[in-house]
Amino acid sequence: MSRAYNFGAGPAVLPETVIERARDELLEWGDARMSVMEMSHRGAHFSEIAEDAENRLRRLLSIPDGYKVLFLQGGAQLQFSAIPLNLLRGKNRADYVDTGQWSSKAIAEARRYCEVNVCASAKDCRYTRIPAESSWEKDAKAAYLHYTPNETIGGVEFQHVPDSGTVPLVGDMSSNIFSRPIRVDRFGLIYAGAQKNMGIAGLTVVIVREDLIGKAEKVTPSMLDYKVQAEAGSMANTAPTFAWYIAGLVFEWIEAQGGVAAMAKRNETKSKTLYDAIDASDFYSNPIDPACRSRMNVPFTLASPELDGDFLKEAHAAGLEGLKGHRSVGGMRASIYNAMSLDGVKALVAFMADFEKRKG
Ligand SMILES: Cc1ncc(COP(=O)(O)O)c(C=O)c1O
Repeated sequence: MSRAYNFGAGPAVLPETVIERARDELLEWGDARMSVMEMSHRGAHFSEIAEDAENRLRRLLSIPDGYKVLFLQGGAQLQFSAIPLNLLRGKNRADYVDTGQWSSKAIAEARRYCEVNVCASAKDCRYTRIPAESSWEKDAKAAYLHYTPNETIGGVEFQHVPDSGTVPLVGDMSSNIFSRPIRVDRFGLIYAGAQKNMGIAGLTVVIVREDLIGKAEKVTPSMLDYKVQAEAGSMANTAPTFAWYIAGLVFEWIEAQGGVAAMAKRNETKSKTLYDAIDASDFYSNPIDPACRSRMNVPFTLASPELDGDFLKEAHAAGLEGLKGHRSVGGMRASIYNAMSLDGVKALVAFMADFEKRKG
């Protein structure tokens, strides 16, 4: 049987060549005479893998001098705590923009450590659009401003980087990192779980401006202190070696495809193909303001929720997986990360048209 098209939100589809390369190197990596899975994180071979991955990441995102890149464990959600613990720097207020479930979770976690000023919220319109930046009630004295560039569950994505003035800007790019070029110098900190556009679960990347490091709250667990991790080259604890290695292979793949700008072009074509199909039909619909639609996660509903079961069953038979919407929203969601091909999206669109013809 051939591999399915995987539209799951994460862990998600990987480039096939990355999996093949990992398979070819699984038993013995280079001249190490052992698997990456068996290597010491401090040994020469893994050091080479780690450095190579970081260099590629820095090149892909054109990271300027003055930023540390950390390869950590604990998932993006542990950063919901690490960020206030490290970035409050004696202040007691932080700005958060609430555009959906992931920003709401980040807000709830930050409230354990400081006063949160929700400077803009899209809750009233059920997170179907992003409030105009001119309406945000920002606090010039906030320790930082946190936002979620892409809401994986709701399917809402910022098309621009907000202006936080001199307040450090923090972005949770878990589901859209490497999907389009970004100006890293606009940010104090960027973080992302690896399991969507960077590889496999178990790794979280943090890109942090150096002047924000070294002022963690006293109670910060050492392993969450960016200074401790930066000084140890992200190896204060045993690093997530295999996930780090896979991320390096994914970075190599992105470079071979033409880099992040090429990814952006592909993602634009892929998402347009899917949204055009949804908009052209009376059977499918997507509730998001077209100006804020995500290029990565496309939620959609069918004319009747009673058809959801049939849709998923038949999609599975057609080799299309992972389409069930998030349990809190229902309906469907197609995650079309970097590694999803245009062919995969076209196969989904063709299936949707056929399903509509038969059941609509
Ligand atoms: C935008 C965003 N933030 C945070 C998370 C949580 O990531 P983790 O499960 O790695 O903690 C996710 C996971 O899907 C996400 O999409």
